[in-house]
Amino acid sequence: MAKLYKKIVLTGACGTLGMEIRSTLADLCDHLLSVDIVDAPADLLPNESFAKADCAVLDEVLPLMEGANVAVHFASIPDERPFDELLGPNFLSSYNVWEAGHRHGVQRVIYASSVHAVGMVENAAGADLDVDHAPDTFYGLAKCFAEDLGKLYWTKRGMESVHLRIFSCTKVPQNVRALRTWLSFDDLRHLVDRAATATTTGFTVVWGVSNNDRAPVNNAKAAFLGFHPKDNAENWAESLYAAAAPADPSDRAQLCLGGPFATIPLGESGVAAIKAMTEAKAAPEAAPTPEDAAPQTPAAQKLPSFLTKKGMNG
Ligand SMILES: NC(=O)c1ccc[n+]([C@@H]2O[C@H](COP(=O)([O-])OP(=O)(O)OC[C@H]3O[C@@H](n4cnc5c(N)ncnc54)[C@H](O)[C@@H]3O)[C@@H](O)[C@H]2O)c1
Repeated sequence: MAKLYKKIVLTGACGTLGMEIRSTLADLCDHLLSVDIVDAPADLLPNESFAKADCAVLDEVLPLMEGANVAVHFASIPDERPFDELLGPNFLSSYNVWEAGHRHGVQRVIYASSVHAVGMVENAAGADLDVDHAPDTFYGLAKCFAEDLGKLYWTKRGMESVHLRIFSCTKVPQNVRALRTWLSFDDLRHLVDRAATATTTGFTVVWGVSNNDRAPVNNAKAAFLGFHPKDNAENWAESLYAAAAPADPSDRAQLCLGGPFATIPLGESGVAAIKAMTEAKAAPEAAPTPEDAAPQTPAAQKLPSFLTKKGMNG
């Protein structure tokens, strides 16, 4: 059967998420060209080829886009770093993908954006898809840059783009925060598929989050994409709460969409801060008070109502 596209280019193909979406993209095209700055994955798919390239160098990106219909841009450093370390991989790479794509007639870019483009927005504000950019880091600033690049190339050059504002994409939810922010690998594949196959997208931003009871955002304004995530982090709530240290609900890392990225100093790793939060265990238990003994759900124990989907919407 004829495939939807002749050629799709995937950057960052050897990364955690790139590896998860290769087969989804390969199913949609005659030829998937996977690109990364590191060596090729061990097993290429039958219709997949690989190019080792630095996306921060325009001359290396230009030939890759020849004959491509869609570019899926996932290459970047996925963490906060000093600005000059992100300039090439996170800022220039995006410009190069859009510009090389434009010169070769690519019709759509699908971009791995991030919640950190709006990481300083407070959960309680009920962030909508058109909330102003509010990056929490230089990393988030690079995501804002690429989103605006997408808007510029759509309005001035008619090149479509879909910006997936991914929250926390892991095999299983890693910590209590992920009860709100988790995106499962299955839901990521579904999201990428919808972004690639939607008939027209213009410039679109969509939250990359699973169907979590506590998701702090909703995708009503991107409903036309037909993204219907199925997984729900709530299934892990009990075990995650059992392992978690108590959280201070007035901490900006709790209040802002960006989590610990909202409080780390610029240039310092946010992933390390999330890891520290994930590994923090509850202090040894003190003798229970009568209040402790009252039966409470994990949610009731730890989260103010505005941090739950129910509290946000109803
Ligand atoms: N994992 C998440 O939860 C999450 C959340 C939000 C956004 N994202 C975004 O999704 C994308 C993929 O994230 P990931 O978790 O798979 O990260 P990753 O680090 O596992 O993968 C990134 C890949 O990009 C490649 N790369 C880096 N610089 C490059 C360059 N100059 N040229 C070519 N390739 C280069 C790396 O070699 C790596 O294989 C990133 O853009 C990240 O910012 C991820």
